[in-house]
Amino acid sequence: MNKIFIDACQGKDVPYSPVWMMRQAGRYLPEYRAVRKDAGDFLSLCKNPKLASDVTLQPIDILDVDAAIMFSDILVVPLELGMKLDFIPNVGPVFSDPIKSIKDIQDFDPVKCANNLSYVYDMLKITRDRLDDSKALIGFCGAPWTLVTYMIEGTGSKTYANVKKLIYTNPEFIHSLLKVLTESLKLYLEKQILSGADAVMIFDSWASALEKDTYLEFGWKYIQEISTYIKSKYPHIPIIAFPKGVSGYLEEIDGDFDVFGVDWSTPIDLAHKKLGSKYVLQGNLEPTRLYSKDAIKEGVEKIKKVMQNKRHIFNLGHGILPDVPVENAKYFVKLVQDKL
Ligand code: CP3
Repeated sequence: MNKIFIDACQGKDVPYSPVWMMRQAGRYLPEYRAVRKDAGDFLSLCKNPKLASDVTLQPIDILDVDAAIMFSDILVVPLELGMKLDFIPNVGPVFSDPIKSIKDIQDFDPVKCANNLSYVYDMLKITRDRLDDSKALIGFCGAPWTLVTYMIEGTGSKTYANVKKLIYTNPEFIHSLLKVLTESLKLYLEKQILSGADAVMIFDSWASALEKDTYLEFGWKYIQEISTYIKSKYPHIPIIAFPKGVSGYLEEIDGDFDVFGVDWSTPIDLAHKKLGSKYVLQGNLEPTRLYSKDAIKEGVEKIKKVMQNKRHIFNLGHGILPDVPVENAKYFVKLVQDKL
């Protein structure tokens, strides 16, 4: 059966722009909080294929979105390269032993890392079996640059001073780390595809932390390398790239991918003008609009006016926030699907 999401990724005509939300499987859903409690904590949930599959399917059952995104986190890759990772409630992810020098990465092995992530592949297999044929299953990874920021800063950062200092004082070291990650991510995405992912998305949440030329060299280049590898082997699998915060140089964004994820700070008409004929666009409702139905309606109408249901996938411009009313998330999805 045709999946409207995959058709849209491939630029085909579809009855409406398919819709899903970044972080759609998450804390705003009471059903998610219940499963996380059963699992014990967030990482145990990520490592439990059956429970992670249950959570992946919740937004399909509750909101009727057009695609499920596998439940996991971008940081399981550094975890399986051998770093110690904790998710601390109300703080977020913490690497207690962040990377300082080349000797900290000597034992990183991309093949071992990709093999260690078998719990993700098991979850994808179960989920693809349980998911209706009309719905797509999205796999994902973090981009090398965003992963490096966490691996060196140890946690979320306001200035990225440690990792940026290394970019300008020891660029070879940062490139060595980016290369190990790039090799790991190629294998990781490939194994996700072989386990049932119908499309894959690459999240570069902290692209905005770098100036243009530095981002192109330390960030975008590695996304291009991963996309080219996947496209050359799996040309039918759509790739979504989401470099957040590059609106100042959209015309320089180029690569072997199908869908460009537009973040909320990028005007959709600008993205449409600069990239709309080259890539299908995904996005970009401002996530806090979900606090008000009027704001949702206004935001959706603005986007529809520019995109005209062509070469477009509806999404938020970043992840859904934990205190958004489920009712409003449902309203957003139904409004886009013309089911109100
Ligand atoms: O989108 C989905 O529903 C699939 C699951 C998913 C999660 N994280 C689950 C999660 C995805 C695609 C991610 C991606 C991710 N993780 C990114 C890139 C996208 C973005 O938001 O920019 C980043 C930077 C991370 C790292 C991360 N994981 C942070 C900073 C945090 C803590 C802050 C926060 O939002 O809670 C997490 C934890 C996390 N990842 C949660 C979930 C559902 C919350 C954990 C909990 O249940 O307490």
